[in-house]
Amino acid sequence: MSNTVLVTGATGTTGRRLVPMLRDRGVTVRAASRNGGIGGVAFDWHDAATHAQALAGVDAIYLIPPPLMEDPTPVVAPFLAEAVAAGVKRVVLLSSMGVAFPGEPADSGRRKLEAAVRGSGLQWTILRPSGFMQNFSEGFLVPAVRHGGIPNPAGNGKVAMIDAEDIARVAAATLIDPAMHAGQTYDLTGPELLDFDDLARGIAQVTQRPVATMPMEPQQFLAMVEQAGVPADYAAMLLRDQVAIRDGAAAIVADTVARISGRRAIDFTTFTAQAAPVWMS
Ligand SMILES: NC(=O)c1ccc[n+]([C@@H]2O[C@H](COP(=O)([O-])OP(=O)(O)OC[C@H]3O[C@@H](n4cnc5c(N)ncnc54)[C@H](OP(=O)(O)O)[C@@H]3O)[C@@H](O)[C@H]2O)c1
Repeated sequence: MSNTVLVTGATGTTGRRLVPMLRDRGVTVRAASRNGGIGGVAFDWHDAATHAQALAGVDAIYLIPPPLMEDPTPVVAPFLAEAVAAGVKRVVLLSSMGVAFPGEPADSGRRKLEAAVRGSGLQWTILRPSGFMQNFSEGFLVPAVRHGGIPNPAGNGKVAMIDAEDIARVAAATLIDPAMHAGQTYDLTGPELLDFDDLARGIAQVTQRPVATMPMEPQQFLAMVEQAGVPADYAAMLLRDQVAIRDGAAAIVADTVARISGRRAIDFTTFTAQAAPVWMS
């Protein structure tokens, strides 16, 4: 068992769910975010002076890479080397299913990141989730859902979106029982394949408001994302994922959530029932 776990991205979608799960199971958690917060540690990927304090006395790391960097390796690799030197034993990386999509360049940033983790000298586990259901309720799609029009560059491509709660459960299991999960790369998905029209219908049903998808050409999607401030290389990666979904690459249902966490993966109907108040406000 990992006794002290550094959770990076502890205020984020998966991290803030993981922190209490680990604490409930008797793990000492160092919750890292830029302002540290109460009981947390101030940690900035881009300020190496914050790294030693975050790593001191830590057995394992839950690693969320620095946001919006197409290739975070130049920042993360030195951090992993520092972790090894500080006596850390394990790392669990939150990666993405997109790493294995057919159109993914061999030298993409996220492939380099996975390679850096595998070569770090730490015991590693890599989690490759599909799209997060919380994109609709906590992420960039909230305003679109409230306005009843969800941008859709993925056509009728299907994806088994996952609830962030399930990602956190799997992460907790892999951190608590490292021996079982060392050297493993896991696809993580929800239980059902749905296209964006199905997802919009599911949200409309619970909100009793019209919600539809807005079909979008790839270039329109790219322009929209870049306009929102996303760097061009990262936006291109997001577009690649959408095109891959459109072309069927994400039509995968994995049994990993149930197998690793011991609980059936949360379905979209259950998610929408919980998330509804966000869309009704
Ligand atoms: N959304 C999806 O559908 C999806 C699908 C597959 C994979 N993923 C992957 O999931 C990851 C995101 O995970 P998440 O959703 O749990 O996180 P998130 O909600 O995007 O939150 C990002 C976290 O990083 C922290 N952060 C931001 N800038 C930082 C910096 N400079 N230094 C240190 N910490 C910083 C933030 O905390 P503060 O702002 O408080 O510092 C926050 O806790 C991404 O790598 C993405 O590729 C997402």
